[in-house]
Amino acid sequence: MKPITLLLLLAFIFSCKDSKRPSYSNKKKENTPEIQTHSGKKLLETNCYVCHNPTTTEESRIAPPMIAIKKRYLKGSTTKENFVNEIQAFIKNPTKENAKMYGAVKRFGVMPKQAFPEETIQQIADYMFEFDIEKPEWFEEHYKEQHGNGRGNGNGMRKGKPEQGNNFKDLPYSERGLKYALSTKVVLGKNLMGKIQKEGTLAALKFCNIKAFPLTDSMSVVHKAVIKRVSDKPRNSKNKANALENGYITIFKEDIKANKESEPIVVSSAENVKVYYPIKTNSMCLQCHGKSNSDIKSNTLAQIDKLYPKDLATGYSENQVRGIWSITFNK
Ligand code: HEC
Ligand code: HEC
Repeated sequence: MKPITLLLLLAFIFSCKDSKRPSYSNKKKENTPEIQTHSGKKLLETNCYVCHNPTTTEESRIAPPMIAIKKRYLKGSTTKENFVNEIQAFIKNPTKENAKMYGAVKRFGVMPKQAFPEETIQQIADYMFEFDIEKPEWFEEHYKEQHGNGRGNGNGMRKGKPEQGNNFKDLPYSERGLKYALSTKVVLGKNLMGKIQKEGTLAALKFCNIKAFPLTDSMSVVHKAVIKRVSDKPRNSKNKANALENGYITIFKEDIKANKESEPIVVSSAENVKVYYPIKTNSMCLQCHGKSNSDIKSNTLAQIDKLYPKDLATGYSENQVRGIWSITFNK
């Protein structure tokens, strides 16, 4: 037997024995040192987890967890290059025709189009391919039910834990601020997308009108931080950016022009820390923040005019700075 064949055979035997590891968990595990430093991990969490996070329960999801996407895209993608290219292709042009996950499209609608730098997606897909990414606790059972061939209990992967309030204190300030912003974004995004998917834009609009502010506020309580969404062109005048915040908005707009991934801006004083991070539009936002005569339906527009006579928050297109997170917490 040639050495290479022997090697393959050995690899095969080994992989069968190690049946606790699901077939889709390839290569490196969660606790290897590189995982914490791989730039794709953070990019995945900041750009994709608002919809694809591993912590939301099965019933209240607005999109499949990333592990399901990984599993689907590994089918037929034998090389990393192929895997990365397929993800890039979908992100550039998310349509029903290009989607592989028919069940997901049927349940959630096609993924809203968002613009991402190619490099960002490259990093994310590389990370997804190389590492065991987090999966929700319900995933294994659900997968077995849906596909009938789930294997093992997957203890090679960390179980998704809900990110509750106060375990961010040890993080660097920028990371901590970002966690506060993103966990609030998850709550708002889940409610908004869920409403649109189930009841349509008009119901979602009324929901935002009543709930956006209290939901954001309630996250401030959870995190013991002041969490605000502010804008240079606010819909609700309570969300108007101050002069300083407007300056940061300009900086984040420049980042988009330069096709650059924005870093949180951190301003630390003697008593507290302030962290700012952009809120960008995707295609989904345009049904309420897009062009008045084309993107926004007339009944939606009428309702917006009624609820917000001084509305400034229309006329946007995809991948623009709709506003920023403005977060303040004690040191
Ligand atoms: C605003 C919510 C949202 C965000 C943010 C989001 N997605 Fe999605 N995505 C969805 C939904 C909904 C689906 C399921 C419907 C579909 O397959 O198009 C999906 C499906 C996918 C699919 C599978 C498409 C298919 O059917 O073949 C890929 C790949 C994907 N997302 C990648 C990403 C990546 C990478 C990011 C972050 C850079 C991201 N998504 C951010 C909502 C989102
Ligand atoms: C269903 C309609 C609807 C959709 C879709 C929608 N929004 Fe809004 N948005 C609103 C309403 C209504 C408000 C005002 C909420 C309030 O009164 O507190 C708002 C407020 C905001 C604010 C706070 C600043 C301001 O203008 O008052 C930001 C930031 C924001 N939206 C961003 C987004 C982004 C980003 C998206 C897409 C991911 C999005 N919105 C999608 C209806 C919508």
